[in-house]
Amino acid sequence: MAGRYSPIGVFDSGVGGISVLGELTRTLPREDFLYFGDNLHAPYGTKPEEEVLGYVRGVMEHLLSRDVKAVVIACNTATSVAAATLRAELALPIIGMEPALKPAAEQRKGGQILVLATPMTLRLPKFQALYQRYGEGAIPLPCPGLMELVETQAFDQARRYLQELFLAYDPARVDAIVLGCTHYVFLRPILREILPPHVLILDGNAGTARQLARVLKQRDLLSDQGGSVTLETSGDSSLILPLMESLLARA
Ligand code: DGL
Repeated sequence: MAGRYSPIGVFDSGVGGISVLGELTRTLPREDFLYFGDNLHAPYGTKPEEEVLGYVRGVMEHLLSRDVKAVVIACNTATSVAAATLRAELALPIIGMEPALKPAAEQRKGGQILVLATPMTLRLPKFQALYQRYGEGAIPLPCPGLMELVETQAFDQARRYLQELFLAYDPARVDAIVLGCTHYVFLRPILREILPPHVLILDGNAGTARQLARVLKQRDLLSDQGGSVTLETSGDSSLILPLMESLLARA
């Protein structure tokens, strides 16, 4: 039976959620975290919804077998597909992610907000509802293939991908970029280089960490001991675990 000293499960389709994990360990340094990257089935964002729901259920089963006390879905795509269904089925706290469109809208100065995410995240009702509410000036930009460039650390290609993506927009008219996929957070340094300084670059990681802390406190599940991180993948561990470790050191 999971309790206050059980680990917190965190998962993504691959290494993107490591950017979230970095924030979680800073916010909650006395918790034990178990991170699972479903690299075997990545990417999620360009596959059919039903298929992704099946993968997410598999990951949840694995995390529950490890007796986690809460789960953070460190993936916008998996959250959009599965969070509501899982919350209806399971009693443990499930924290999801959404593109940081609300904070972007609050800081908008009348210009454009470019929302970068997977095709699935932008298509599903969760984002559509957010867009209805906070979407003034926002332009959704699906980025198929971009997460793969982070997975393979192909940063030169990622730079070219982003430069081409932005060709259609005048940077002077852009107020903010929303990173609506946890993989893209690792592209922040490139984005900072190719965009003018006035463009805000926003992600949902800090908000997710605050939400996890709030929910654990409410349910009296905050730990005051521990502080470990365990990394796991459904893919090739000899390749992926060292990559996860180096990304976590940078996150
Ligand atoms: N990191 C994931 C997200 O936040 C998704 C990438 C994918 O599997 O397509 O959406």
